[in-house]
Amino acid sequence: MTILITGAAGLVGGGLRRELASDGLVLRLFDRQPVSGLAAHESAVQGDIGDLAGLQSAMLGVSAVVHLAGCTTDAPMDEQVAGNVLGAFNVFEAARLAGVGRVIFASSHHVVGYYPRWRRIGTEVLLRPDSRYGLTKGFGEQIGALYADKYGLRVLCIRIGFVEARPIDQRRLSIWSSWRDLAQLVRIGCRHPDLHYEVVYGVSGNARGFFDNAAAFRLGYRPEDDAERHAAAVLASVPPEDPALIGSHVMGGWAANNEFVGPIGRLLD
Ligand SMILES: NC(=O)c1ccc[n+]([C@@H]2O[C@H](COP(=O)([O-])OP(=O)(O)OC[C@H]3O[C@@H](n4cnc5c(N)ncnc54)[C@H](O)[C@@H]3O)[C@@H](O)[C@H]2O)c1
Repeated sequence: MTILITGAAGLVGGGLRRELASDGLVLRLFDRQPVSGLAAHESAVQGDIGDLAGLQSAMLGVSAVVHLAGCTTDAPMDEQVAGNVLGAFNVFEAARLAGVGRVIFASSHHVVGYYPRWRRIGTEVLLRPDSRYGLTKGFGEQIGALYADKYGLRVLCIRIGFVEARPIDQRRLSIWSSWRDLAQLVRIGCRHPDLHYEVVYGVSGNARGFFDNAAAFRLGYRPEDDAERHAAAVLASVPPEDPALIGSHVMGGWAANNEFVGPIGRLLD
């Protein structure tokens, strides 16, 4: 089975390459940056997701696309549109044209970043993006819905929380994903026989979790990790959150703080 990973030179791409190394997959690594340290089962294609024809030819013979590339900060809107709107659209369109059956889309919890933390939300709730980044990631999820419903692609959108070796602050204790738990979700996206269009949270089984990840559990996801194991060390190493900031009360943290106007009570009361 050949899988193409866009944005493979980045942080998540590197982690997934490590986790999937012994799965017997052929990995085609697509990025505008050079990808380093290629293993025998890996090849690199340097290209930009703005280039539909280049994407389409890179996807020939591919069974699934793991789409990671795009704008990953709360940059100005033109960068969001180029990466997360037009770029994401090109990835789904190229997959359709190349006959790729599946797309696993790296969305973000920032699509729901303005929900207060006392809520426990699933993936049925209305989006409440906390940033231009969250807004355009939500658009990417909708491209996935269109391509699943209209063209029959199998699409899994993973709203990643924070993936790293360990959580780094209080909020990340609620949204952290270990590498192996994220890789488990990607495998579900690549192989689940009944996948049509699903949105799940890319988080481990965190005791302090914000999200009801029932959609992931229905697909067979069984997270192996829980941020709680790191809680004492994390809480001892960072100052308490500032209660005057909206980001200390809602799920999106820093992104919710950016450019926020008015008293925080207008969202929390
Ligand atoms: N890291 C996290 O915890 C996290 C959390 C939520 C969502 N995500 C999502 O996961 C994905 C990967 O995140 P990351 O942390 O690895 O980001 P990253 O910035 O480390 O990597 C992104 C990669 O995409 C490539 N890229 C960007 N624009 C491109 C373009 N136009 N054409 C080709 N390649 C392009 C970059 O060169 C880079 O290698 C992103 O979509 C991000 O929004 C990550």
